[in-house]
Amino acid sequence: MSSPKSSAILTELRANFVPQGPFNVTPYFVEKAKGAIVYDVDGRELIDFAGGIGVMNVGHSHPKVVAAIKHQAEKFTHTCFHIVMYAPYIQLAEKLCGLTPGSFPKMALLANSGAEAVENAVKVSRHYTNRPSIICFENGFHGRTYMAMTLTSKVKPYKLGFGPFMSEVYRMPFAYCYRCPFGLNYPGCEVACADYLKDFFISDVAAESTAAVIVEPIMGEGGFITPPPEYFPKLIQICHDNGIVFVADEIQSGIGRTGKMFAMEHWGVEPDLVLMAKSMAAGMPLSAVIGRAEMMNAPQVGGLGGTYGGNPVCCSAALAVIEIFEEENLLAKAQALGDKLRQRFEAMQKRLEIIGDVRGLGPMLALELVKDRVSKKPAADVAKALVKFCYERGLLILSCGNFSNVIRTLMPLVITDDQLERGLAILEEGLTTLSK
Ligand SMILES: Cc1ncc(COP(=O)(O)O)c(C=O)c1O
Repeated sequence: MSSPKSSAILTELRANFVPQGPFNVTPYFVEKAKGAIVYDVDGRELIDFAGGIGVMNVGHSHPKVVAAIKHQAEKFTHTCFHIVMYAPYIQLAEKLCGLTPGSFPKMALLANSGAEAVENAVKVSRHYTNRPSIICFENGFHGRTYMAMTLTSKVKPYKLGFGPFMSEVYRMPFAYCYRCPFGLNYPGCEVACADYLKDFFISDVAAESTAAVIVEPIMGEGGFITPPPEYFPKLIQICHDNGIVFVADEIQSGIGRTGKMFAMEHWGVEPDLVLMAKSMAAGMPLSAVIGRAEMMNAPQVGGLGGTYGGNPVCCSAALAVIEIFEEENLLAKAQALGDKLRQRFEAMQKRLEIIGDVRGLGPMLALELVKDRVSKKPAADVAKALVKFCYERGLLILSCGNFSNVIRTLMPLVITDDQLERGLAILEEGLTTLSK
């Protein structure tokens, strides 16, 4: 099979045959990728601090993942779990039930994408509680299907022109300490943003109508916003006092991204339902809803599922990912990487006025860029220019945040010290140059 090679040809074909809707951060086309390095069709070598948007925690083309995919593909690629079941689905479900926080009986449903996991969590929560309403948060991102998009907070580009949206979705302010929506300061605030859920039941939606509260432990697309230690324990307690399902969307923060398998472990919280996707299968399309058995088992036979959900090749890749975490001690590596990054970022913050906030957990870290530290006016123009500055010099890095002024790190956890240093040098040079 012949394939067009140069990016010039591919760029023209892309413009002619692919709509503009799917955005592109860089103008490059990948040829191959290994570990934390991406090679493009024109021979560029790019250090990957983006990880395909937080998907490649075990690194690109890990030999164990490649072998698992090949092995399974040679046996069979699809029968549909609903028609003839297969072991990898069951083995993975058992593993995931063991890995997620909470020692209560659990069950796992597999699907294809993060958004689809979100959809299924809403279905399970509504069915179990027999209630209609879902509470989500400002700055949240949950995907691009209709319910997931409705739950998502950022209007441009995710929602503009796509309404009407789903009904019975209510949005609360989040624990964004750097820009507190209540104008308070931590810890003097006593985490009033969590207690606000009780007021929200009065002003916006009744607790007895609420099926679920869905929240990311660390807001991903919303700017790596990281709540204080008291926040989630308070929030889940209010949910449980009111019979509401607490759903943790760990699609970006899970699978070791924060130095623990699941970010909620940092808060000591055991969610009723946990959502996974992204890094769980190293780039193969797979997602999961894992949670309390009585909730997961509430929907009737035939009420959940889909043609491809829990595809055997994807499940085999995910089982390999879990083994890699154990064999290569990736959680310890992630913690060490996170410590190194934080040290470097805090040193940069001391030197560069443009870095208003350094936040996150483990290597899920971010820099919020501001015009000055008093007004905190978002420096979205600098963030945009920085992403370009970096990729032109061989570093892939992403921005995020509702104001598009946050730079985040999602590099493979297997990145070498040399690759990390080279990437950080480009980032620091860019920040220094562009903040002059
Ligand atoms: C927290 C979170 N939830 C849901 C999604 C949607 O996942 P997908 O793009 O696989 O549908 C994403 C994707 O970025 C995400 O970060």
